[in-house]
Amino acid sequence: MNDLFKSERHGCSEETPQTVLVTGGAGFIGANFILQARGAQWYNVVNLDKLTYASNLQNLTALENDSGYRFVRGDIGDPELVSHLLEQYQPDAVINFAAESHVDRSILNPLSFALTNVTGTLQLLETCRAYWQKLSPHKQGRFRFLQVSTDEVYGSLSMTDPPFCEDNPYEPNSPYAASKAGADHFVRAYYHTYGLPTLITNCSNNYGPRQFPEKLIPLTILNAMEGQLLPIYGDGQNIRDWLYVSDHCEALHLVLQQGKVGETYCIGGQNEQTNLMVVEKICTILDELLPSKPNFSHSSLITFVKDRPGHDRRYAIDCTKMNRELGWKPTESFDSGLLKTVQWYINHPQWVEQIRTGAYQSWIEQNYTDRTANYLSV
Ligand code: NAD
Ligand code: TYD
Repeated sequence: MNDLFKSERHGCSEETPQTVLVTGGAGFIGANFILQARGAQWYNVVNLDKLTYASNLQNLTALENDSGYRFVRGDIGDPELVSHLLEQYQPDAVINFAAESHVDRSILNPLSFALTNVTGTLQLLETCRAYWQKLSPHKQGRFRFLQVSTDEVYGSLSMTDPPFCEDNPYEPNSPYAASKAGADHFVRAYYHTYGLPTLITNCSNNYGPRQFPEKLIPLTILNAMEGQLLPIYGDGQNIRDWLYVSDHCEALHLVLQQGKVGETYCIGGQNEQTNLMVVEKICTILDELLPSKPNFSHSSLITFVKDRPGHDRRYAIDCTKMNRELGWKPTESFDSGLLKTVQWYINHPQWVEQIRTGAYQSWIEQNYTDRTANYLSV
């Protein structure tokens, strides 16, 4: 084990990675993954995150004194920094969560999505390839590059289409989906051309604690709690297949341990809901938990607004392969997962306040701009 990390891990086989470089680990899914990985002592984690607006280091304060965890501020597209980290920590896997992840922002500013999601991932692959090629044959065989991707690369389903599976052709419709598709194609090419042991997961919409409140579920919860309008694009009949974030993290752990290199795994919630149904369920939960905030039914705040251009009608995932080959299936029901999520936002007003006021981002700039060098030498 890398002697920079002193913590012991339990219940791990010889083939389980010991140290994992997680990119984008201060964002929603990455942070939940790291908390779960360290809680269960799956492996030691080095977290490389650029700390964009969507990140939040508060997500990881529970690991402040954890000797099996390191944070480094930086960009996946910085080859010098990434090769330094690979040499220093000798991870046996890289999990790439880092991305620009919001469809609406991709419509307003598509170039930033190409830069981070396509060029950034390509640069990360190239830096990993250089590191991997110098490893011993044994370590080369154990190394994994896991690309965390989305079902949005497959395009849109009609109401009667079967759910997406691994064989579906890529038909991305938004700049976000196109940028994730581009990244996935490069990951595939690095496996076929150079033999880099890659894995790709294509997951449906996640929800749960710590999601930045620009996405439908946290936006609705926070707006409803404050008595603000709940915007629903178009007719509210677009369908997403919602998966509780800890189920996604468990699936990623399994794919990393047991997935076949060069393959793709579809991960989904088996839980198709129209956007209107999702928003109404949140309103019902809040009517019970916060009946006097505001003192009228939360659903009266629902407002239909102009649709998103190119809005995909329906996503759904067939996760038969994950179930058959890795024994995975989602465990959290939508009702219980949504209740936990609403409770989390109610119980974390400070997290919400810091993001909303912008004080969080100014603090990060103030505290981290000149301190990257210190982190590198931890
Ligand atoms: P997020 O926007 O909450 O977090 C992204 C993180 O990446 C942030 O912490 C950000 O600072 C970091 N980042 C951005 N650019 C970076 C760069 N150049 N270098 C290093 N770090 C950088 O996103 P999320 O919802 O946690 O999604 C994580 C990954 O999972 C993404 O790749 C996304 O495409 C994929 N995914 C998300 C969902 C979902 O429903 N949220 C579903 C399927 C797949
Ligand atoms: P979102 O959470 O942005 O995820 P994605 O676009 O990646 O699926 O949106 C989920 C669904 O909710 C999508 O169909 C768009 C819709 N939506 C609204 O109706 N209103 C909103 O304010 C937002 C942010 C999304």
